Amino acid sequence: MFRSETYKNRRAQLSKDVNEGIILLLGNTESSMNFADNHYHFVQDSSFRYFFGLINPDIAGIIDCDSGEEMLFGDDLTIDQIVWTGFQPTMKELAEQVGIDKTAPFAKLAELVQKALADGRTVHYLPPYRATQRITLSNLTNQAVSKVDEGASVKLIKAIVKQRNIKTTEEIEELEKAVDITAQMHIAAMQHTRPGMKEYEVGAIVQNTAKMHGAELSFPMIITKDGQTLHNHYQGNTLKSGDLLLCDSGAQAVSGYCGDMTRTFPVDKKFTSRQAELYQIALDAHEAAIKELAPGKRFKDIHLLAGKTIFEGLKAVGLTKGDTESAVAAGAHTMFMQTGLGHMMGMDVHDMENLGEPYVGYTDELKKSTEFGLKSLRLGKALEAGNVITVEPGIYIIPQLIDLWKSEKKYEEFINYDELEKYKDFGGIRIEEDFVITDEGAKMLGRQVPKTIADVENTRA
Ligand code: GLY
Ligand code: MN
Ligand code: MN
Repeated sequence: MFRSETYKNRRAQLSKDVNEGIILLLGNTESSMNFADNHYHFVQDSSFRYFFGLINPDIAGIIDCDSGEEMLFGDDLTIDQIVWTGFQPTMKELAEQVGIDKTAPFAKLAELVQKALADGRTVHYLPPYRATQRITLSNLTNQAVSKVDEGASVKLIKAIVKQRNIKTTEEIEELEKAVDITAQMHIAAMQHTRPGMKEYEVGAIVQNTAKMHGAELSFPMIITKDGQTLHNHYQGNTLKSGDLLLCDSGAQAVSGYCGDMTRTFPVDKKFTSRQAELYQIALDAHEAAIKELAPGKRFKDIHLLAGKTIFEGLKAVGLTKGDTESAVAAGAHTMFMQTGLGHMMGMDVHDMENLGEPYVGYTDELKKSTEFGLKSLRLGKALEAGNVITVEPGIYIIPQLIDLWKSEKKYEEFINYDELEKYKDFGGIRIEEDFVITDEGAKMLGRQVPKTIADVENTRA
């Protein structure tokens, strides 16, 4: 937790930006796996945590933009609960830690919200992403559950994005720590993977490294020899000589801030020549993108530059042909890079994705494209100093996509399908690192993880 002034200042700015009515921010509740008292790992709502700092479940915060009043709603533990959980600070004590002196039992929240609505005031709330939030908001605001989402406040969303998009020095310090743990997770995986291991054994090394730092995973990790499947959570394969292993994982540090990195390396000590060729092209795209990172640069353009680098590089391998500019303008590079180049990162690994990509990654002038490839680009707008982002180009050989587009004769002038047929068993490569945009350009977060072919092979050896 930061000092109480941090939270006070953030709330004051939010109140000023929203300017009228009441802001309601719900903290998260526990979520049950299979019976009521068997919970998933608790994760606080990030916007609640950003403005109210607390990581306890079942709390809500109110900011009255007209009177300036701030209040936390939540219940002190009963003696029956203390028997099981041990003594916990009271709501009053918790509130003091984040600069708030007014608290009330959770049941009182409904009275306050109902009175505000009866007085004709706006109650600003965020779009829910869990069913329990939707039901709570429905009960508080007298709307049908099915109407709650459309009643979310765009004004509140924009005001929160304005603050959370620009990371302060104290946030960047925490992000550094999270990414540095993340880097160590990847170094451990690269050092300890051997032919004959199961993917889940590598996963265990990655997760153990996070746990040894008191951290959790910032998202379900991807540890797979089938890296062409973008969200591949299966880890039951046995790794064998000749396989390429894609590891995408990150830590969420105690502070709540996240890391998100990917490395792809051979299960053997060395890449095969075919693997090295494609790896170098993905790395060239990664490096070309990093060189462009600076305030004012549109991330969509950097994404397209990565696409061009990959398309151009694959010509030498015989997989692509024709004019690169025209090919990328037509979308032919999406045979190989179907994903976006990166995304914002903060307390959420895809920061603020619950608030909506139109507000976080795009602007009123620059809307997200609906085209294959670009529709997966979460961040398109110009970068600003203080943004924290990922850069994660990749080359993914997806047999089903090859079959479909070949049968449709799609991009025939740009893709050598006969040659590509020979790569159907290749898999996928992604290289991902995290950066803070500075006044001058960008700075990589966390320690360096081997990335060049020579450095990866040295580590594997
Ligand atoms: N870990 C998901 C991503 O890289 O965006
Ligand atoms: Mn990732
Ligand atoms: Mn990522």
